[in-house]
Order: sequence, then C-alpha cells, then structure tokens
Amino acid sequence: MRTLKIVLVLSFMLAAASPFISTKVAALTANETSPIETTETVPQSKQAQPVDASQFIGSDSCAECHGAESTHYALTAHAKTKVLNAPIDRHGCEACHGGARAHVDFYLNIQKLNEAGKEAEATTLMNDTAKAAAAALKSFSKMSSAESSATCLKCHEGSQGNAEERFNYRRSEHARHGVSCNDCHSSHAPKRTEFLLKNTEPNLCYTCHAEQKASFSKPFHHKVPEGGMKCSDCHNQHGGFMGKSLRNSVNGDSACVKCHADKQGPFVFEHAPIKTEGCQSCHTPHGSTNPKLLTRNVVRFLCIECHSNTPGLPGEPLGDATPQGHDINNPRYQNCTVCHVQIHGSNADRRYFR
Ligand code: HEC
Ligand code: HEC
Ligand code: HEC
Ligand code: HEC
Ligand code: HEC
Ligand code: HEC
Ligand code: HEC
Ligand code: HEC
Ligand code: HEC
Ligand code: HEC
Repeated sequence: MRTLKIVLVLSFMLAAASPFISTKVAALTANETSPIETTETVPQSKQAQPVDASQFIGSDSCAECHGAESTHYALTAHAKTKVLNAPIDRHGCEACHGGARAHVDFYLNIQKLNEAGKEAEATTLMNDTAKAAAAALKSFSKMSSAESSATCLKCHEGSQGNAEERFNYRRSEHARHGVSCNDCHSSHAPKRTEFLLKNTEPNLCYTCHAEQKASFSKPFHHKVPEGGMKCSDCHNQHGGFMGKSLRNSVNGDSACVKCHADKQGPFVFEHAPIKTEGCQSCHTPHGSTNPKLLTRNVVRFLCIECHSNTPGLPGEPLGDATPQGHDINNPRYQNCTVCHVQIHGSNADRRYFR
C-alpha cells in the first residue's frame, strides 16, 4: 500500500511537471533556431576579411574637409587606435568608415579643379555617379543595424576593452530588435558624455522604455532617477545569458546580491523561494506602490500565497501550511515578519525568528 502511494505521488509529480519541462525545452530549441539569427547575414567578425592595403590612406587628410568629425574624434578614446600596432583596417577613421584612398583622391581632384578655375570639369566629375559611388565611404546612416554593429564588434567583441561584456551582443534582445551600437553611442557627438553615450542613463534608456520610467516614478523604487544607481547595474544592455538581459554577479548569483549580499546566504536555514525562484518571487525590481518593493501591499498576503492556512493536498501548498495556532483573522498573527524576522534565511532558527 505504502509503495503504491509513493508510486502514485511520484507519477503525479512527473505529470504535473512535464508541461513545464516541455515548454522549457521548446523555449531552448526555439532560441537555437531563432529566425533572426538564421536569416540575417551578419558579417563574421572573427573570420578575417581580406584587406586590400592599397585602399587605405590614413586619417591625416580628413580634417581638411571634415573638421568637426576630426575634432570630436581626436577627443575620444578611439584616437588611441592611431598608435596601436594593429592591422591597417583598424586605425583611425578608416577603422569604421573603410579604406579612404579613392574617397580622398576623388574629392581632392574636385577641389583642385575648382581651385584651378575649371568649375565645369569639377561639376562633371562630381556628377559622375560611378566614380562618386566608388569613392563613397561606409556611412552608418545607410547601413542596416546588424551591419553597423558588426563594424564596431570587429574590435569590441574580441580583446578590446571590457570585451566579455559584449560577447553576446548579436543574440541580445537589443540586437534582435534592430537596436545598434549607434542608437546608444555616438562616435562624433559634440556632447561630452562618459562612454560616448548619446545621453546619460537613465534618460538614454527612457527614450525607448517609457514603461520603466513610469515604474521608477512610483513611491518605492530603486534610486535610479536620483542617480544612485543605473539600469546597467542590473542589466547588461549589451546582452548576456540571463533572461531579461540581467547581469549576474561574479559567482553566478542574481544581480541583486551584488549589493544586497546579506540576503544571499548561504544560510543554515534557507527560505526556499529565494534559492529556487529568486528575489522576484516576492519583490518587484524597479518600483512599486508597496513598501519594500513587495509584490503585495500587505506582507501576510504575500506569505499566504505559498503558506496557505488550510491544510492542503500532499505537495500543496508550496511552503508549509501555517500551523493551526496561526489564525490569520487574529491581528496577533497578521504581521508575519514581526515574529519571522529573518525572512531571507537564518543561521540560528529554522523558522527565521532570529
Ligand atoms: C568608432 C568608429 C568611427 C570612427 C573611428 C570614425 N567615425 Fe565617422 N562616423 C561614425 C559613426 C557611427 C557615424 C554616424 C554618426 C554618429 O553616430 O555620430 C559617423 C559619421 C561620420 C560622418 C558624417 C557622414 C555620415 O555618414 O553620417 C563623417 C563625415 C565622418 N564620420 C568622418 C569621420 C572622420 C573624418 C573620422 C576620423 C577623424 C571618423 N569619422 C572616425 C563612426 C566613426
Ligand atoms: C577634399 C575633401 C575631402 C577629404 C580630404 C575627405 N573627404 Fe570625406 N567627404 C567629402 C565630401 C565632399 C563628402 C560628401 C558629403 C555629402 O555628400 O554630403 C564626403 C563624405 C564623407 C563621408 C560620408 C559617406 C560618403 O562617402 O558620402 C564619410 C564617412 C567621409 N567623408 C569620411 C572621410 C574620411 C575618413 C576621410 C579621410 C580619410 C575623408 N572623408 C576625406 C570630402 C572629403
Ligand atoms: C579599430 C577598432 C575599433 C573599432 C572598429 C571600434 N572601436 Fe570603440 N574602442 C576601440 C578602442 C581601442 C577603444 C579604447 C579602449 C580603451 O580605452 O581601453 C575603444 C573605446 C570605445 C568606447 C569607450 C569610450 C570611452 O570613453 O571609454 C566606446 C563606447 C566605443 N569604443 C564604442 C564603439 C562603437 C559604437 C563603435 C562602432 C561605431 C566602435 N567603438 C568601433 C577600438 C575600436
Ligand atoms: C541600449 C543601449 C546600448 C547599446 C545598444 C550599446 N551600448 Fe555600449 N554602453 C551602453 C551604456 C549605458 C554603457 C555604459 C555602462 C556603464 O555606465 O557602466 C555602455 C558602455 C560601453 C562601452 C564602455 C564600457 C565597456 O563595457 O567596456 C563600450 C566599449 C561599448 N559600450 C560598446 C558598445 C558596442 C560596440 C555596442 C554595439 C555592439 C554597444 N556598446 C551597444 C549602452 C549601449
Ligand atoms: C535593481 C535592479 C534593476 C534595475 C536598477 C533596473 N532593472 Fe529592469 N529589470 C530587473 C529585473 C530583475 C527584471 C525582470 C523582472 C521579471 O522577471 O519580472 C527587469 C526587467 C526589465 C525589462 C523587461 C520588461 C519588464 O519590465 O519585465 C526592461 C525593459 C527593463 N527591466 C528595463 C530597465 C530600465 C530601462 C532600467 C533603468 C531605467 C532598469 N530596467 C533598471 C532589474 C532591474
Ligand atoms: C533605441 C531604443 C532603445 C534604447 C535606447 C534602449 N532600449 Fe532596451 N530595448 C529596446 C527594444 C526594441 C527592446 C525589445 C523589445 C522590448 O522588450 O521592449 C528592448 C529590450 C530591453 C530589455 C528587455 C530584455 C528582455 O530580455 O526582455 C531590457 C532589460 C532593456 N531593453 C534595457 C535597456 C537599458 C538598460 C537601456 C539603456 C542603457 C536600454 N534598454 C535602451 C530598445 C531600446
Ligand atoms: C547597485 C546596487 C543594488 C542592486 C544591484 C540592487 N539593489 Fe536593492 N537597493 C539598493 C540600495 C542602495 C537600496 C536602499 C536605498 C533605496 O531606497 O534605493 C536598495 C533597496 C532595496 C529594497 C528595499 C526598498 C525599501 O523600500 O526599503 C529592496 C526590497 C531591494 N532593494 C531589492 C532588490 C532586488 C530584488 C534586487 C535585484 C533585482 C536589487 N535590490 C538590486 C541597491 C541595489
Ligand atoms: C519569500 C519572499 C521574499 C523573497 C524571495 C525575498 N524577499 Fe526580500 N523581503 C521580503 C519581505 C517580506 C520583506 C519585508 C520585511 C519586513 O517586513 O520587515 C523583505 C525586505 C527586503 C529588503 C529591505 C529590508 C531589509 O532587510 O534590508 C531588502 C533589501 C530585500 N528584501 C532584498 C531581497 C533580495 C536581494 C532578495 C533575493 C536574494 C529577496 N529580498 C528575496 C520577502 C522576500
Ligand atoms: C513563493 C512562495 C513563498 C512565499 C511567498 C513565502 N514562502 Fe515561506 N516557504 C516557502 C517554501 C517552499 C518553504 C520551505 C518549506 C519546506 O521546507 O518544507 C518555506 C518555508 C518557510 C518557513 C519555515 C518552515 C519550516 O518548517 O522550516 C517559514 C517560517 C516561512 N516559510 C515563513 C514565510 C513568511 C512569514 C512569508 C511571508 C513573508 C513567506 N514564508 C513567504 C515558500 C514561500
Ligand atoms: C506572534 C508570532 C508569530 C506571527 C505573527 C506569525 N507566526 Fe508563524 N510561527 C510562529 C511560531 C511560534 C511558530 C512555530 C510554532 C508551531 O510550530 O506551531 C511558527 C511557525 C510558522 C511556520 C512553520 C510551520 C511548520 O510546519 O514548521 C510557518 C510556515 C509560519 N509560521 C508562517 C507564518 C505566516 C505566513 C504568518 C503571517 C500570516 C506568521 N507565520 C505569523 C509565530 C508567529
């Protein structure tokens, strides 16, 4: 009889879990065959593209005609690429805009013709669409977002800077939705911001994420609008392995414990949902009308989501039922965390009294 019971319970649990397992599997396989990743032809950064050195001329002549861009460029971290012992296609302006010899020759010719008073000839040359096309450089406003990002990733996916940060860019939620590096960064903007950002956080993010702006204006919120922390403290806007582009802290724990290390444990007596479901099972990360960013406005309603007062079926409720003595109609038992103080886990008491 007892064995029969166990078998029944086990098979019930398996049956209950199987839809969950299969959706997980479906989600995983769906990820692998994402239409975006398979149909779009993204230039591969790691695969060395043949470079014709004769097309490159260097950045010295550009300033003459592109004063503003050259000035801005000289002030950015990219000016460092000039002195690097790097391949020819990774220096200065040409690292992003491509080999410029034909471009410079073409426009210098026009300039010379004009200076020599041969304006008609200059205009003819200018209107020679074939020659003009051959002289055109890579213009970011005319590229697809994938192509544009690939230009940056040829350096920023590899060993340049904090590279691991962007290893997953191509499969990031941003890239999948056609957001390119240049939607957030500007290589030439006269506005001086850290990391060449078009705007500082969180306003940069708010331009597209109005809903999150609303969350952060709720009465209880992480101090993002006040500048106390940034969206990018919790998210890797460049993509990563976690859902919702979340960062995980060094040792693989959730982004939250980077700052709230005391909630991390390990505890002798863990409160199970923290380990199994994460902080979000009880807290809203951005902002809330509930104190302590709780998902419920009253603590006990949160607790009885899992600790039902009615004795249930085996395997239910999720946590242990509250003991008989806990009449939650009785005000004495309503403020659960007055007694169960160490709600995130305890080293001293299995019911988190201390
Ligand atoms: C890190 C990559 C990068 C480097 C290096 C770079 N640019 Fe650009 N350039 C861009 C991007 C991206 C744009 C598009 C506008 C923007 O985001 O600021 C642009 C725009 C331009 C434009 C405007 C034309 C257009 O297509 O919109 C000119 C002209 C230009 N760059 C010239 C230069 C010159 C000259 C240099 C070197 C002194 C240089 N760039 C170096 C990335 C770069
Ligand atoms: C003699 C003047 C001259 C020189 C030198 C020159 N350019 Fe240009 N460049 C132009 C003109 C003119 C345009 C076309 C602008 C337009 O169509 O609005 C242009 C356009 C561009 C564009 C936009 C894409 C395109 O081809 O239309 C980029 C990027 C650019 N130049 C980068 C450079 C870089 C990098 C250098 C140095 C290696 C350079 N230019 C040297 C005159 C020059
Ligand atoms: C030729 C290689 C190369 C290319 C292509 C390149 N970068 Fe960079 N980038 C660098 C280097 C080198 C640095 C300086 C890193 C450092 O200081 O450690 C840098 C720094 C940066 C920084 C940090 C700036 C700062 O102030 O700290 C940003 C942001 C950036 N790049 C964005 C871009 C974007 C966007 C593109 C494409 C439009 C791009 N890069 C293309 C090599 C490159
Ligand atoms: C959704 C906006 C967004 C997009 C898209 C984006 N970035 Fe950034 N990036 C940021 C922000 C915000 C920071 C600053 C993070 C911080 O303050 O710590 C940053 C920082 C950087 C830095 C300097 C710090 C570091 O991590 O080394 C580099 C380099 C950089 N980004 C390159 C890129 C490149 C290359 C791409 C495209 C492949 C890209 N970014 C796409 C928002 C973005
Ligand atoms: C304290 C950490 C933290 C900060 C700061 C933060 N987020 Fe989040 N964000 C999260 C977590 C955790 C989730 C996942 C919520 C979930 O799974 O229900 C999330 C989810 C999201 C989502 C997915 C949609 C949604 O709401 O579930 C977007 C978009 C987002 N955040 C944008 C932002 C922006 C923009 C900022 C800055 C203005 C920001 N986040 C700041 C932790 C944070
Ligand atoms: C140019 C518009 C744009 C900007 C700027 C932008 N995002 Fe996004 N972001 C998107 C789009 C589009 C999506 C995908 C659709 C969605 O979830 O809304 C997205 C999705 C996200 C997600 C959800 C990822 C997921 O897995 O669901 C997060 C988190 C996020 N962005 C954070 C940020 C942060 C942080 C910044 C500022 C550093 C930022 N975004 C700036 C357009 C933008
Ligand atoms: C970059 C550091 C940082 C990260 C990452 C972070 N927090 Fe916080 N958190 C704070 C700070 C600082 C405060 C207290 C100041 C305030 O009110 O914002 C706080 C306050 C809180 C509060 C209490 C709010 C109140 O009203 O007393 C909760 C709950 C909380 N965080 C949960 C989380 C969760 C869940 C995550 C992960 C999604 C997280 N935090 C990630 C820094 C962080
Ligand atoms: C089982 C539900 C639950 C989970 C899961 C949970 N918390 Fe809490 N947390 C609470 C409750 C309830 C409170 C309010 C305690 C009170 O009433 O004093 C709280 C309060 C907090 C506070 C503010 C008060 C303080 O003690 O500093 C922070 C910060 C916090 N939690 C962070 C986290 C982090 C980080 C995680 C994930 C590691 C997490 N919580 C997971 C239920 C939970
Ligand atoms: C998301 C579901 C969930 C929420 C919300 C939740 N718990 Fe739990 N709780 C659990 C689970 C699961 C266990 C582990 C039960 C076990 O080990 O048998 C547990 C264990 C406990 C224990 C220890 C029981 C024992 O016998 O070891 C106490 C006390 C407790 N929770 C109190 C609370 C209080 C108070 C709240 C509200 C602040 C709360 N819980 C919110 C799921 C939850
Ligand atoms: C006045 C203090 C007090 C309050 C308030 C209180 N509890 Fe308890 N709780 C206890 C004591 C004492 C025990 C252990 C006694 C027992 O086993 O009968 C306990 C045990 C528990 C257990 C563990 C049951 C087990 O099998 O070990 C859970 C779950 C629990 N409480 C949940 C809650 C919830 C949910 C609330 C809020 C609705 C709450 N408690 C409010 C004092 C309190």
